[in-house]
Amino acid sequence: MTNNKFRRIGILTSGGDAPGMNPCYRALTRAILAHGSQAMGIRRGYKGLIDNDMKLLNDRDVSNIINVGGTALYSDRCLEFKTEEGIQKAIKTCRENEIDGIIAIGGDGTFRGARDLTDRGIPCIGVPGTIDNDISSTDYTIGFDTALNTVVQMVDRLRDTCESHARCDVVEVMGNGSGYLALYAGIAVGATAIITKEIPFDEDALVAKMIESKFNQKRNFIVVVSENMGKEFSEKLAKTIEERTKIETKHARLSHVQRGGSPTQRDRMTASLMAFKAVELLYEGKSNLVICERDGEITSMDISFALDFDKFYKGKLSDDDIAKMSPDAIAEMKEMADKKKEKFLEVYRINDIISK
Ligand code: F6P
Repeated sequence: MTNNKFRRIGILTSGGDAPGMNPCYRALTRAILAHGSQAMGIRRGYKGLIDNDMKLLNDRDVSNIINVGGTALYSDRCLEFKTEEGIQKAIKTCRENEIDGIIAIGGDGTFRGARDLTDRGIPCIGVPGTIDNDISSTDYTIGFDTALNTVVQMVDRLRDTCESHARCDVVEVMGNGSGYLALYAGIAVGATAIITKEIPFDEDALVAKMIESKFNQKRNFIVVVSENMGKEFSEKLAKTIEERTKIETKHARLSHVQRGGSPTQRDRMTASLMAFKAVELLYEGKSNLVICERDGEITSMDISFALDFDKFYKGKLSDDDIAKMSPDAIAEMKEMADKKKEKFLEVYRINDIISK
């Protein structure tokens, strides 16, 4: 199993933390040690790489963290690493510490960092960890299921009190501009409406639906709104709903409570499988990859392609960017994006029909 090319492999978590990062870190460490290399835990993401904040890991270092939320490696959103000077400092730290490869857990920003290091001679692989499930190359990101369950538990409580008082609650959830958390939580809590950037919002239809349901004796209403809909969008919506429906309406922003908590089985399992895959690929001599779950399989995609696809999916690719891409790449991205959008829309439509 040993590949002498890797004396030490660094592990880091970067960007917003997510439940499941610890099981991932644990599995990475154990898999690296099983290959006969040393595992280096880099603290505070790319910041720790710049500052040389790291320690060699043994089996015991990752014991008893599989069930713990947050990231025991700590995290940071490191602006310095976005500069060439910062990247060069990180490379120097790698060379000094005999780090021959890195596995980085996080979101798109983390993958950009991994690509920049790979480009400069440190092979890296990214593992998707974020509660937002907003990484287009993968169907699933570590942390999403735990955050979803947290949202569901919180909103179930809100529903109890809404029912007692015949109220509506407008609940704002995280997502970093992506509506997955709102959509999936909304379905699971039986939300009257789910409002996300992906689907045009029809205020009149929502008001009419609520008035009709109230007439039919419905007492509680939950409206789930994704963050980043606009400045104080959900607060204003709560006021508008109250004015137009005459149903007393409260507002709740769940905020960072969604990011904490013990990872669910789904997150522990996916974290472990993705970590194992990342290590195997690195030892096969592959790098500049992001680990993905696609159609139920743990697989991988070239980081640069994955980052371009993410922009393509989110409509952020400029005409110039597109002009530089091959027709085959564009066709592949279009097919993947259409499939993903259709799936999102299908779930949204279902909720529209089954919710009151
Ligand atoms: O990416 C995870 C996330 O929690 C987003 O949902 C949210 O927009 C952002 O991070 C919040 O970032 P911070 O923890 O830096 O306030």
